Amino acid sequence: MCGIVGYVGNKKAVDILLEGLTSLEYRGYDSSGVALNIDNKVQLFKAAGKLQNLKDIVNKNYSEISKSTIGIGHIRWATHGAPTVENAHPHSCNCGRVAVVHNGIIENYKELREKLEKNGCTFRSQTDTETVAHLVASKFAQTQDLTEAVRLATKEIEGAYALCVIHQDVKNTIVATRRNAPLLVGIGEKEYYVASDVPAIIQYTKQAFYLDDNQIVTLTPDSMKLIDIENNSISPKIETLPWEPVALSKMGYKHFMLKEIHEQPDVVRNVLSGKLRAIDENITLNEVTLDKDKIKNLNRIQIVACGTSLHAAMVGKYIIEDFCGIAVDVEPSSEYIYRKTITDKNTLVIGVSQSGETADTITAVRQAKSKGSHILIITNRPDSTMAREADSLVPVNAGIEVSVAATKSYMAQLISFYLIAIYIAEIKESIDKKELSDLKHELIVLPQKIEKILAHKEDIQKCSKAFSSSKDFIFIARGINFPTALEGALKLKEISYINATGYTAGELKHGPIAMLDETMPVLSILMSGKVYDKILSNSEEAKARNARMIALTDSVDEKLNELFDNIIRIPEISEILSPALAIVPLQLIAYYIAEFLGKDVDQPRNLAKSVTVE
Ligand code: AGP
Ligand code: GLU
Repeated sequence: MCGIVGYVGNKKAVDILLEGLTSLEYRGYDSSGVALNIDNKVQLFKAAGKLQNLKDIVNKNYSEISKSTIGIGHIRWATHGAPTVENAHPHSCNCGRVAVVHNGIIENYKELREKLEKNGCTFRSQTDTETVAHLVASKFAQTQDLTEAVRLATKEIEGAYALCVIHQDVKNTIVATRRNAPLLVGIGEKEYYVASDVPAIIQYTKQAFYLDDNQIVTLTPDSMKLIDIENNSISPKIETLPWEPVALSKMGYKHFMLKEIHEQPDVVRNVLSGKLRAIDENITLNEVTLDKDKIKNLNRIQIVACGTSLHAAMVGKYIIEDFCGIAVDVEPSSEYIYRKTITDKNTLVIGVSQSGETADTITAVRQAKSKGSHILIITNRPDSTMAREADSLVPVNAGIEVSVAATKSYMAQLISFYLIAIYIAEIKESIDKKELSDLKHELIVLPQKIEKILAHKEDIQKCSKAFSSSKDFIFIARGINFPTALEGALKLKEISYINATGYTAGELKHGPIAMLDETMPVLSILMSGKVYDKILSNSEEAKARNARMIALTDSVDEKLNELFDNIIRIPEISEILSPALAIVPLQLIAYYIAEFLGKDVDQPRNLAKSVTVE
């Protein structure tokens, strides 16, 4: 979480920092702050709450503040200490000459703080980060060299961090470093940018390099020096970033989330492009580097992921087991890492992550890698930390996703799982060719079916409005759409704060049915296939307890009108592909309810797009 931006050059630093923080706001929005060098003095400006509060402070004294051509900025997702002004970054030391912004968690901060306090440091915040400011200041007092001070400080700190540091006595210099948190350096004409993520710098430069763990970079307008923690000098791997600034515009939609929901037909086309050429041709998946004999000998697949990516992984399990006859375990990354997992070189481990920066999943993947498993990463960010751990990297090409609630990246992950499953099935010859070509045909026409749903979104909007005053919401499904129920519930929880839960329809009678009465909406995901009749019976059970019944279905059966108060009809689709279609109305329901309730759709409270702490 959190976003960091730094600038050193000849432009007005505060403009670049605030622009950068605006485009990183999806990473956290508990507080924000900047440190600038104005009239040879490091000065901090901070505000609790949304970035606009900081902008208001800056605007009041803009002519003074905008004199600085160097600065660092931060947008916080609080881990240690409440989201107050005191805890907002940048943090400083006793003398106020150092300013530090930090993304991550300093795990040994208590010990460090005790030691520093004994040495006379006065702490003003409850954060773990403030220890770094005091530590760097004390190392600087010994060395009079900012790079060396940061290097020595990082030798003492444990945990995850991306750090940017400036010092009043070292003019026009930013020192930045990282360990298990992302950071990149953008290169301009006599200027440098530092940022947690590409959107903060892409409008200024496409030339950049990613810092690796334990590397320290020292930037001035005229120079850049990269070293490792042992003081060896390193040449940066400069690349041209494959991003376009236009990707960050709402393109006329009220929210990024709505725009991203609408992008899904194109996302499906993009993911399929070049991989699924014709229904009678095998899938091409050059990204999978595991050789064909090894694929034939795989004895198990483990998939690790969090949140929405976990739900995509759960759908992936159904598809792979169905098509390939390989046992698949899916586990939240945060649980996987604390278990004795049975993983070996005949296990394929798949990590799924939109951001590629989720700390839990990175740790899980590294753990599996150390046991010799082949690591396949499905991510929307081929430039991420997780991507760099991959033996096989499958980029999902959904384009940048700004809304904190994931939508189009989920769609892209699902389609990637279909492709991977078909690819393995074709190698193993584990499934009938006709069945595969039927599925390929359905994949090709899927975007049109999504477009049909989007064209009738007003019906879904109307239905959503009717349920917006509900305190709770239940989604039921069976089989391959159980993850769809979980994802529908997660979307609703995330952006409307309604207590929504997904259940397997068969489990309803084992407990949750006790909650049903005339105030409880129950949405049945009733897609044609082998579990249709069973879900229908479970829906009858819920109706008998007076629940408010909603069906999401591809059935045209008129009899459903007797059982359900509302019916959302979607185009017919095979059961195996139905999760990719059924999720779209659920995303829209969550969106419209949150919008109707006046919630902050793109930046829901307490959340951050990229969760870089465990
Ligand atoms: C999605 O709507 C969520 N904001 C969240 O659950 C997310 O899916 C999760 O944090 C995992 O993120 P990742 O895909 O970037 O790893
Ligand atoms: N741990 C730090 C804090 O709570 C940084 C959190 C972040 O990454 O935003 O202030």
